[in-house]
Amino acid sequence: MMTTLSSAQMVQILAAANATVADEYADHDLVCSQGAVPADLNGVLYRNGPGRLERGGVPYGHAFDGDGHILRLACAGGRVRYTNRFVRTREFVAEAAADRLLYRGFGTNLPGGVFANALRLKFKNAANTNVIWHGGKLLALWEGGLPHRLDPRTLATLGPDDYDGRLRNPFSRVERALSPELPFSAHPRRDETTGALFNFGVLPGLGKNRLLLYRVAADGTMAAPGVHELPHCSFIHDFALTPRYLVFLVPHAAFDFPRVLLGRITPAGSLRVVAGQPLAVLLIPRAGGPARSLDAGTGFVFHIAQGYDRDDGTLELDLIRYRAFPRLDSPELMFAPDGPVLAPKFERLTIDPASGTCRTRPLGTRIAEFPRVAPGGSGPRRYLFSVGAPPERRAPYLTCIQRLDTQTGDDLVHEFYPDLPGEPIPIPRGSDEAAWVLTLVYRAAARRTDLVILRGADLSLQAVLPLPHGTPPGFHGEWVDGACGGGGP
Ligand SMILES: [Fe+2]
Repeated sequence: MMTTLSSAQMVQILAAANATVADEYADHDLVCSQGAVPADLNGVLYRNGPGRLERGGVPYGHAFDGDGHILRLACAGGRVRYTNRFVRTREFVAEAAADRLLYRGFGTNLPGGVFANALRLKFKNAANTNVIWHGGKLLALWEGGLPHRLDPRTLATLGPDDYDGRLRNPFSRVERALSPELPFSAHPRRDETTGALFNFGVLPGLGKNRLLLYRVAADGTMAAPGVHELPHCSFIHDFALTPRYLVFLVPHAAFDFPRVLLGRITPAGSLRVVAGQPLAVLLIPRAGGPARSLDAGTGFVFHIAQGYDRDDGTLELDLIRYRAFPRLDSPELMFAPDGPVLAPKFERLTIDPASGTCRTRPLGTRIAEFPRVAPGGSGPRRYLFSVGAPPERRAPYLTCIQRLDTQTGDDLVHEFYPDLPGEPIPIPRGSDEAAWVLTLVYRAAARRTDLVILRGADLSLQAVLPLPHGTPPGFHGEWVDGACGGGGP
């Protein structure tokens, strides 16, 4: 283990980890450097995250703008084959041909100041946040725009997917001109009973801020979107789906649209949470009826691990709450020794619709992000998996995979420090919530990435398979058991 890293060293390692992915591989055989791949681990791990954070020598202004880069790790019979490709969005193809930035991003303005950015409202779809398999389609997701359909075997980009026109903006002509497509979030949820996919999109508008609600049947057919009007602008990244409710954590966030329009600032740079305003829980009954908004305290939530109804009429969310809204445009601030203590940690939020109240209690003490529970099953899952760090670490530098037992409060930890693991993917088998946990680990010294397979029971090492190159730790993905779209493993 290295000695404790300084803030400057952490920033340096993260910068190296986010270097541009130069090569694309197809069905490249990986070889174990430690352990062995379980012979009955059959399926495909898909991952998405930024693979390029500069164009023509100009760095993007924010990690959220990195170009979507998909990894496919097909496991069968003890072998793993690796494929990786960038998502060829229209914007990516145009910028690659020009070898310069042509579009603004969530946190990136074009070089040239106000004159280059004013009134330019066509933002790049980064297609970089999640990748899912549903309704016979593999989709790369980005919360600000359309999903992109990919070939499940080769990862070739087949084009943006508007679900037969359902994701075309149906509102006024002016609104359609500003935003022709509806946003489709990167955190959809499955109804395990019906196989339907639920999702949402936040559409700021002229005087109206809309929360769009989507339902995609198991066969891939989307119903007409529902519309819930938000009382104010907000920034919502994730939600929970229970048998009775759609549940959103809604901060009172505000973009400075005039300054964004005039090109003076990026959307990310203009985003602020209004001081003194609570984080609201928005409950939308799935069976219809009025929505409710309850006070859930303060702070900010990116991710919800799971949500479920209880027999007494309450519902619970296991989520990760930040003490304060993280300044999305200032990673330097987050790594400053005297920077804000954001301390994202697990908690259980109990919501009582009858009394209109919420109460919360901490779950564990460690820093946590990228929470996952095993898919499938009914009712709450016992184990919360996440990337994490010890409670005393101030910088957002997450170096372990951890499993929090919600029944006992015990933490199991597999520490990779100073290396950087990505989101853990638990793979259930029978009644076992996680027979294995898969993650990709960026190795700081070697500047290379490994596929790491941990045993779910104790998070001990099952296998390590070096990729032929380094790739940023990335955001989200999923495991698809067995063959996928006839194309794998
Ligand atoms: Fe996310």
